[in-house]
Amino acid sequence: MIGGSTKVCLILGYPLKHTRSPLMHNAAFAALAMDYAYIPLEVKPEGLSAVIQALRGMENFGGANVTVPHKVQVMEYLDGWSQEAEAIGAVNTLYKIGGELWGENTDGRGFIASLREEVDFLPQGKRVMLLGAGGAARAVIQALVWEGAEKIYLVNRTLQKAQGLASSLRKKTGRPSLVPMGFDDPLFPARLQECHLLVNSTSVGLSGDDPPLFDYRLLPSRLLVYDLIYDPELTPLLRTAQERGCSTFNGLGMLVYQGAFSFEIWTQRPPPVEKMREAVKAIV
Ligand code: ATR
Repeated sequence: MIGGSTKVCLILGYPLKHTRSPLMHNAAFAALAMDYAYIPLEVKPEGLSAVIQALRGMENFGGANVTVPHKVQVMEYLDGWSQEAEAIGAVNTLYKIGGELWGENTDGRGFIASLREEVDFLPQGKRVMLLGAGGAARAVIQALVWEGAEKIYLVNRTLQKAQGLASSLRKKTGRPSLVPMGFDDPLFPARLQECHLLVNSTSVGLSGDDPPLFDYRLLPSRLLVYDLIYDPELTPLLRTAQERGCSTFNGLGMLVYQGAFSFEIWTQRPPPVEKMREAVKAIV
C-alpha cells in the first residue's frame, strides 16, 4: 500500500507502455514487505533535464532506472557515475548519495549474472560472437572483456560502427581481442564455428517479419545462443538454434539481473531474484 512514508522509485523513458520493470520491482518490494513503490514516468528527451532537476528536490526518492532513449543523455545532468557506467558510456540506474545524484550501469553485470546463474557459462577464455553495435552491445562487450573473454567478434550491418566500437574499447581496455566484421565477411561462417557463445543485441527478431541477420542454418549445434530480446520469447534466431540442437536463452534473465542489481543499490538488501523473475514471466 502506498502511504505517506512510501519511498518512490521511478523508471524514466519514452515510451514506457511495454516496460516490465514496475511489475518486477513492485513484486520485489512486496516480497520483502518494503514501503517502496515503483512508478513509470514517461519523459521525452526535451523534458529530461527538468525531471532530473525535480528528483534532486524529491525527499522520498528511492532510486530510478533510466531507459531508452535517455541512457546517454542523462549523464549530462548527474553529479557523477561509476567506472562501469563510464566504460559503457551510459547509465541505467540513479541513486542519491550525500545529496548528490549518481549514475550506475547494471546492464553488463546483469548479462554476466544471467550467463553464470542460468546458463552456467563463464566467459573467461571463451570466444564470443556479438551481433550488433548499439547501446546494448556496448554493455555486453564491456562486461565480456572484464570477465576475460578470449576473443569477441563484433558483427554489425554497418561495419564502421563495429570498427568504431572496437577501437574505442581497445583504447580503454588495452585488449586486442575485439574483431569487427560485417555479416557478409567471407570469414563469417568459419568464425561462427569457432565460437562458444553467440549473442544477438540487434533489434532483429522483435518483429516476426524481420529478415534474418544471416543464414541461421550455419549455427553449429554446440553453440550457446543468447538473444537479448525477450518479447517474443522465441525469436526466429532462437527457434532455428533450437532446431539445430543449440542451447538457447532469451533476454529475460538479463532483464531480471540488471533489475536485481539496481534494487540492491537502492535498498542495500539482497534482491528476491526468483520473485522478480516470476513477476516478469507472468506476462510473457
Ligand atoms: P540498442 O540500444 O538496443 O542496442 P541501437 O543502439 O539502436 O539499439 O542499435 C541497434 C542495433 O541493431 C544496431 O547494431 C543496428 O545495426 P546498424 O548499426 O547497422 O544500424 C542493428 N540493426 C537494427 N536493424 C537491423 C537490421 N534490419 N539488420 C541488421 N542489423 C540491424
